[in-house]
Parts: sequence; structure tokens; C-alpha cells
Amino acid sequence: MSMREVANLSDLKPDEPTRVDVDGVPVCLVRVGDGVKAVHDTCSHQQWSLSEGMVWANGVECSLHGSTFDLDSGKPSSLPAIKAIPTFAVEVDGESVRIDVGAPTNDAPFPDHD
Ligand code: FES
Repeated sequence: MSMREVANLSDLKPDEPTRVDVDGVPVCLVRVGDGVKAVHDTCSHQQWSLSEGMVWANGVECSLHGSTFDLDSGKPSSLPAIKAIPTFAVEVDGESVRIDVGAPTNDAPFPDHD
């Protein structure tokens, strides 16, 4: 796969996770200033959608049981989740936000998702 446009920068609100589906993969986008970070949208604990949670420091917090995942490493920083989630490189070019879900930036397994 290759970089694919997934959102417009101005549609992403700072500190508010946004879910997009890219080639069947749910992705959680978080705007940080003029940049964007992207992680798999599925919590590694019980497959909850992370975009329903909130941004906390450099992480996104799962709204079901409260695990927080680092937006750069994908690693959980609090229980009950113990497994990392995939992270993705993001390109921002003007308004265009692009990611490649075929090239995650860590080696976390893709969680099952609906
Ligand atoms: S489903 Fe996310 S912490 Fe339990």
C-alpha cells in the first residue's frame, strides 16, 4: 500500500480523537498543533474504539477501562491493557492528511476489530 489521503486537517479538532477507516483498518487520528498522529483505533484490551476516548498528554485514553496508549510508541502506559497497538506515520501537506496503514511504524500486531 501507499500513502492515502484520509482527512482534511481543518476537520480535525485539537485533542479530539477522530476515527477514519482506511482500507478496512480503523485508525484513530489525533491533531497535535499543526501535526497529526495516528494509531490503530482498536484497544488491545477488549477491542474498544479508542476514538471514543480522550486525549491525555501524548496519549489516547480508552473510555471503557481507562488504559492510555502513547501516540508515538503505541505502548500502553496503564493497565488493564498490556499490549501495544500499531502506530502509523502521518504526512500533512496543506490540508491533506495522509497515512499508510500497510506500513506501521512499530511491530505491534493488528488487533481484531469490528
Ligand atoms: S477495552 Fe480498552 S482498556 Fe479495556
